[in-house]
Amino acid sequence: MSDSYLTFCFLSSILALIAIICFIFTKREKPNLNLPPGQMGWPLLGETIGFLKPYPAVTLGDFMEKHIARYGTIYKSYLFGEPTIVSADAALNRFIFQNNGKLFEISYPKSIGEILGKWSMLVLVGDMHRDMRNISLNFLSNARLRTQLVKEVERHALLVVTSWNKNCTFSAQEEAKRFTYNFMAKHIMSLDPWNVESEQLKTEYACFMKGVVSPAPLNLPGTAYGKALKSRSTILKIIEAKMEERAKRIQKEDASLEEDNDLLSWVLTNTNLSNDQILDLILGILFAGHETTSVAISLAIYFLASCPLAVQQLREEHMEIVTSKRKTGEVELTWDDYKRMEFTHCVVNETLRVGNVVRFLHRKAIKDIRYKGYDIPCGWKVLPVISAVHLDPELFYQPHQFNPWRWQEKNKSGVSQKAMNNFLPFGGGSRMCSGSELAKLEMAVFIHHLVLNYNWQVVKGDQPFAYPYVDFPKGLYIKVQTHSCM
Ligand code: HEM
Repeated sequence: MSDSYLTFCFLSSILALIAIICFIFTKREKPNLNLPPGQMGWPLLGETIGFLKPYPAVTLGDFMEKHIARYGTIYKSYLFGEPTIVSADAALNRFIFQNNGKLFEISYPKSIGEILGKWSMLVLVGDMHRDMRNISLNFLSNARLRTQLVKEVERHALLVVTSWNKNCTFSAQEEAKRFTYNFMAKHIMSLDPWNVESEQLKTEYACFMKGVVSPAPLNLPGTAYGKALKSRSTILKIIEAKMEERAKRIQKEDASLEEDNDLLSWVLTNTNLSNDQILDLILGILFAGHETTSVAISLAIYFLASCPLAVQQLREEHMEIVTSKRKTGEVELTWDDYKRMEFTHCVVNETLRVGNVVRFLHRKAIKDIRYKGYDIPCGWKVLPVISAVHLDPELFYQPHQFNPWRWQEKNKSGVSQKAMNNFLPFGGGSRMCSGSELAKLEMAVFIHHLVLNYNWQVVKGDQPFAYPYVDFPKGLYIKVQTHSCM
């Protein structure tokens, strides 16, 4: 047989295979449905590669911008191996959050479930999710934030901020992570920053994180995902050892006051959760509680570096708080001080709006749904894209500009009520972030000590990228000089 005949046979088989896959692929769409416009892309892959292509985090990225321009704010696609409805529509996003459990359910890719664990809050549904969520809400209750956590957040912020030498250069992203991780490790398991286990856990978490966000989650030796699964086992072993030790101490009534107060003791004494459930809960809260907030703090440092007027106004606000505290002899920040940080709250909101730490969420339709004349078939993936709403010029004037003043109540041309209702950096409904108040408190307290003590510039020309998780590719190196407001 000639070579050209063999080549012809080979190419024909490949084309036949592609045709069969395309046929199966298009058959997934039920007939007579009024699906939103859009394209399904390549067989199997769909448009996933374009969707996940990194882009500057203060934008929506080429993929999203082009798709919205072409199809509007609700479009169909094929993403993460599933037919998908993408929503950049503020009202549909709210509808999705409000109907969680009734019309929509959480649906993270299988690889995320595998790495976070089957008892992780991010994958659980129904009663089990409700029970786990109540535990996290109890741990992060407003009463605890007011009475205990403000002081502790400040202690951990000071440990980091006061360790910087004048005129030194370092990765602000690493320092933000040191702060949020140390705080969470202490309050979840009473691990001190200088503790060997705590350092080991932190290193393992860095590897674990790379796997959680890996665009190619293949469990093969050497891949980020494969390494992260190994880190998961090591992390669980460390938590399990702590748990066994603690259970014994509780039995002997030998736990210290500090330990009595942490999440581990609370779960062991107040719930009937199995060991596996406790392990996934602790792993998940430690993960959710430090990765996101450290990115948010890094974003604030980055935005403020190019907004000296905002830094000046922050300094005035925080100096006023310090001065009035001095008069009464108080030193530590209190909840009332936090509530007085009006402009800081504007900076926090604006950072979350422009930076969009979490850009989209994973849901699936659990019923056939009709919305604005479009069909969303049962079983389809649905992605509410929060960042698209936060960067919508119809809701936020000059949306790509970092402008904290837009949030000031006295600013008549500031954020409208409609925009306010659609500002959802922590998601919404029955799955809204349980740590939102803690995250905002950590950001404000960190900013307090940063602006009172330092001037800083970003070096190495870094900027945040969405991978789609937000990260500074060069680690956000900053050079600090001490600043005295006193
Ligand atoms: C700026 C920082 C943070 C951002 C932007 C953020 C964002 C989010 C978002 C958008 C969700 C919803 C996920 C979904 O619906 O699929 C979520 C869930 C969650 N977050 Fe956060 N988060 C932050 C900080 C924290 C902190 C400090 C904690 C606490 C320790 C925390 C704990 C959780 C938990 C436990 C859930 C799951 C809630 C549930 O399923 O009921 N987060 N977060």
